[in-house]
Amino acid sequence: MSETTPSSAAEFPTIDDCRIVDLPHILSPQGSLTPLYALEHIPFCVARTYFLYDIPGGASRGGHAHKILEQFIVAPMGAFDLLLDDGRRRKRIRLERPYYGVYIPRMIWRELVDFSSGAICLSFASHPYDADEYIRDHQQYRQDIAR
Ligand code: TYD
Repeated sequence: MSETTPSSAAEFPTIDDCRIVDLPHILSPQGSLTPLYALEHIPFCVARTYFLYDIPGGASRGGHAHKILEQFIVAPMGAFDLLLDDGRRRKRIRLERPYYGVYIPRMIWRELVDFSSGAICLSFASHPYDADEYIRDHQQYRQDIAR
């Protein structure tokens, strides 16, 4: 069975495959700079970048998993919580520094909550946007990973 068609839940990525990546931060009296390299800090070829902003207090984003897409998320401004779920275990990560990123493999359920005022969520994705590639129903997600 190939990597893209797992035959059991054990072959799907887990919470342990989600990881926090330290990014360089270059400090100077004139301000700070963080460079990101694909295939070094971001462990995939980036096909798309987008960012969330103007997020109202109390809003939550995400609430889905991706069948094939891998993602790398940074909080360049402000803070938010990333809730990760592999169907068995959950992890909550507070992203509040511009020099940390979180790698999220395919088939991990994610929600983004508790945005601070003015927060920005910068996201790097391994694929172009494709609505058919999303799993937006948590029950469906649990069924899919149990297969
Ligand atoms: P969605 O992925 O549901 O946002 P989030 O996970 O942050 O809550 O996308 C919200 C809307 O934006 C949806 O109508 C699809 C559209 N969209 C694009 O057109 N291109 C993109 O790259 C993304 C991420 C979303």
